[in-house]
Amino acid sequence: TDTYAVFGNPIAQSKSPAIHRHFCEQTGEDMAYTKQLVPEGEFRQAADAFFADGGRGLNVTVPFKLDAYEYANHLTARAQRAGAVNLLIKENDGSITGDNSDGIGMVNDMLNMGWELGDKKVLLLGAGGAVRGVLEPVLSQQPKCLTIANRTVSKAEQLARDFHDLGTVSACSFDDLSGQRFDVIINGTSASLHGDLPPLPDQLLAPKAACYDMMYGAEPTVFLSWAETQGADQLADGLGMLVGQAAESFYAWRHIRPEVVPVITELRRKMV
Ligand code: ATR
Repeated sequence: TDTYAVFGNPIAQSKSPAIHRHFCEQTGEDMAYTKQLVPEGEFRQAADAFFADGGRGLNVTVPFKLDAYEYANHLTARAQRAGAVNLLIKENDGSITGDNSDGIGMVNDMLNMGWELGDKKVLLLGAGGAVRGVLEPVLSQQPKCLTIANRTVSKAEQLARDFHDLGTVSACSFDDLSGQRFDVIINGTSASLHGDLPPLPDQLLAPKAACYDMMYGAEPTVFLSWAETQGADQLADGLGMLVGQAAESFYAWRHIRPEVVPVITELRRKMV
């Protein structure tokens, strides 16, 4: 039986083993997938031990995505762009490929829900690792324009420079958003982890706007509650992104594409 795991700290709350169990039941694949608490500063030793023991692949979550980026022997183009790795694959020659399936997981979730990004005015809130990770897949949908708003504007400006070759990307502060309207707003700040909301102006949503939070929980996030009061037409949290990145990981390892929708439904049912 091929073995896989997710490394993180904390890790107890991880839904990845349950998600991959669903994928195995669906596809009949035989694999073991466990979660492993890795002490901070010990990613390399833990990964070395895992692969030396015959492990075939890892998912990597907070706070090790940069360690995984450095650990990989080679990187996919999307991982290079993301500057972070959430997926390691052991190749037949023994080398380790680093990939990033977070962004494609989010965009596929949106497409599954029937959301369009093409020719839309898209706003991304935040300029940390989570936002960097989704920029290439979002831009590949060819939005009309993409704005990155962040508390620390210089970080948004840096991202806009790093991705300007892929589309019309601009950066601004939250204050600068007054008077602008967007069709799709994606929250990639870690503010909601602490129940905070970036200071967003009213009337930010265009008619029929869709709002997506990369965070998820049993209760609507503060951002999604805000979006509802602002009249958003569509709302979604990041549970589908989590299942989507897992599906891309499963595909990279097993070369079979599992179905995500029944797994999202089942996880949601268990959360409430
Ligand atoms: P991650 O890997 O989750 O993206 P990160 O790289 O630390 O984490 O980035 C966190 C993001 O959330 C940043 O954009 C941060 O804004 P700053 O760059 O100005 O620090 C944003 N953020 C965190 N708390 C916030 C808050 N209370 N209000 C607004 N933005 C916040």
